[in-house]
Amino acid sequence: MKKHFYLLITIATLLFLTACSTQPSKLTSPDGNLSLSFDMVNGKPAYSVTAFDKMLIDTSFLGFEFRDMPPMNKDFSITDVKLVSSSEIWKPLWGERSSVHNNYNELLVELEETTELNRKLVIRFRLFDDGLGFRYEFPEQDNINEFVIMNELTEFKLTGDHTCWWIPGDHDSYEYPYYNTSLSQIDVSKTNYQARWDRFASNMNAVNTPITMETSDGLYLSFHEANLTDYAGMTLALKDDLTLEADLVPWADGTKVKASAPFVTPWRTVIVTKNPGDLVKSDLILNLNEHCVLPDVSWIEPMKYVGIWWEMHISKSSWDREDVEGSWSGSGKAKHGATTENAKKYIDFAAANGIKGLLIEGWNTGWEYWGVDTTGFFDFITPYPDFDIEEVVKYAKEHGVELVGHHETAGDVTNYEERLEDAFKFYNKLGIRAVKTGYAGQIRPKGERHHGQFMVRHYRRVVETAAKYHIMVDAHEPIKPTGIRRTYPNMMTREGVRGMEYNAWSEGNAPEHTTILPFTRGLAGPIDYTPGIFDIKFDNFKKKERVHTTVAKQLALYVVLYSPLAMAADLPENYENQPAFEFIREVPVTWDETLVNEASIGDYVTTTRRKGNNWFVGSITDENTREVEISLDFLSDGVTYNAKIFSDGKNADLEKNPTAVDITEQKVTNKSVIKASLIESGGVAIIIKPE
Ligand code: NOJ
Ligand code: CA
Repeated sequence: MKKHFYLLITIATLLFLTACSTQPSKLTSPDGNLSLSFDMVNGKPAYSVTAFDKMLIDTSFLGFEFRDMPPMNKDFSITDVKLVSSSEIWKPLWGERSSVHNNYNELLVELEETTELNRKLVIRFRLFDDGLGFRYEFPEQDNINEFVIMNELTEFKLTGDHTCWWIPGDHDSYEYPYYNTSLSQIDVSKTNYQARWDRFASNMNAVNTPITMETSDGLYLSFHEANLTDYAGMTLALKDDLTLEADLVPWADGTKVKASAPFVTPWRTVIVTKNPGDLVKSDLILNLNEHCVLPDVSWIEPMKYVGIWWEMHISKSSWDREDVEGSWSGSGKAKHGATTENAKKYIDFAAANGIKGLLIEGWNTGWEYWGVDTTGFFDFITPYPDFDIEEVVKYAKEHGVELVGHHETAGDVTNYEERLEDAFKFYNKLGIRAVKTGYAGQIRPKGERHHGQFMVRHYRRVVETAAKYHIMVDAHEPIKPTGIRRTYPNMMTREGVRGMEYNAWSEGNAPEHTTILPFTRGLAGPIDYTPGIFDIKFDNFKKKERVHTTVAKQLALYVVLYSPLAMAADLPENYENQPAFEFIREVPVTWDETLVNEASIGDYVTTTRRKGNNWFVGSITDENTREVEISLDFLSDGVTYNAKIFSDGKNADLEKNPTAVDITEQKVTNKSVIKASLIESGGVAIIIKPE
């Protein structure tokens, strides 16, 4: 991708509306539909928000508790207030849209304690047409130098018992199905929740963000955070029936955030829209991040990839070698997957189908110790004897394919940080431009959590080190996305979701799961969900497990879920001679435009994306059948297009025949409506190109 595609700012206006008032202040969104009021309640800082003339967030308090320092949440007076407004259009290097409008009104409130400490705190609020963000800023000052936050006291006092889609506030994992309850009924103990590494059961009334809500007035809300750079991940805990409060993930020593002034927190964000589709269209999270800091982005390229991966998850092969003492795969039946020969087979397939990347897991030594309570067993550079990495790289290059490297750390971050530089240098020397990282295990040093400040710093260090070696990152067991892809566009995609792999070794993901993801986890950023399973039941390897889907739904997921590194997850042999694979071959990984045609969270969603003059549609349903009618009114006027429709086959059946796909073609214009019958957990995927 050429550098000039990364345009910094095309239009920027900065208007100073008013300055230097010390009165409690009001702020409205550019379109006037949202308003925020900052109030001092007996010296306590608080805010409230109205949406479409109704109270959305009632008076909610703000502040902090510290170690060895009195709290900062009372005895304040306002020393200054500034109102600023900004409008700019910027161009992401890749993403769901080629152009992003950053348009907000800002209120900056400067506070000072009236007590003898005289500490200063700044709160910056931004109101967009589709929501709000605010953050705390600790300016440089005499009475705060280094400090330790024990609690952030940010509240969101909701005004109704809204319907919520949430996952438990686990400090180590976001890999859960979404629970759908009213706000007051959020209670992790009533679910089948188990803390991921059987250790860190967090607050039973806390959820991880993004959490999505639907109000009885038909508003849709998403609570999350933006620009999580050097802070603890935030969960939200139910304080009373309708109030959520920040509940930060702790360090091993029980503290939450170690900081020194000047210091800014991440943005606390709420997207507010009138329908679920507009949640997906929001760029609020990205807009609350900084511009790209990478001087050269020519090496960053979204791509599709296949992988020596699913075959391990379905136990066709293993990560470790069965002949190594203490082999983790144990059974002795599964053969090592990452061999030179197998890699060549995948490369041949990728080359024949225009798939650029090949992920290879299990090529480097150490896997036999995965899950064992020992450290330092991965060095990230030593291949197993049956894998000739130079030969594989050479063969790939000759065929126009490139490897996606893998750094599984097993959570042993101490070891990884020691080897980080060498590990990236190694891949860089081989010309490898993308690396999947993994933290499948308890974090070392022991007691640190995947989502605490220790790991937030680590994940960032990895992105920065990768950038130094011109490497794109796909992080598994990650910190949630908060929009840093704008600043580091090599931070491509990540897991942080209950992804496809669960179908290989658990009861699997329910049909509704992927109809919820675009409106929850997907609002935070790209998801490496790894769709594209064609051998839905994989009975040759496992009889009990299966993917709860049809093949047409698998295709539609490439449009419904966004990832700039998009995996075609199944085995090459399952794609051979499958006409439906054409859709995966054709679907782009970066878009000019994204629309959500219709959606009901947890029931169905139809998403349409445009790349150049071509449009791709994906529509999926939950466990219920659905007749969809997709109006093509988004197409250009006066142009005739060819639509290729991949739908659930006439004789498709979720239990007996989930693989049947009908492929039909028709001429369409912007007056056309495409109808399709989706079976239970079915889908339809459409390619629309001008004639
Ligand atoms: C968990 C990851 O999500 C999965 O993709 C990977 O194959 C395993 N860890 C092994 O690294
Ligand atoms: Ca449903």
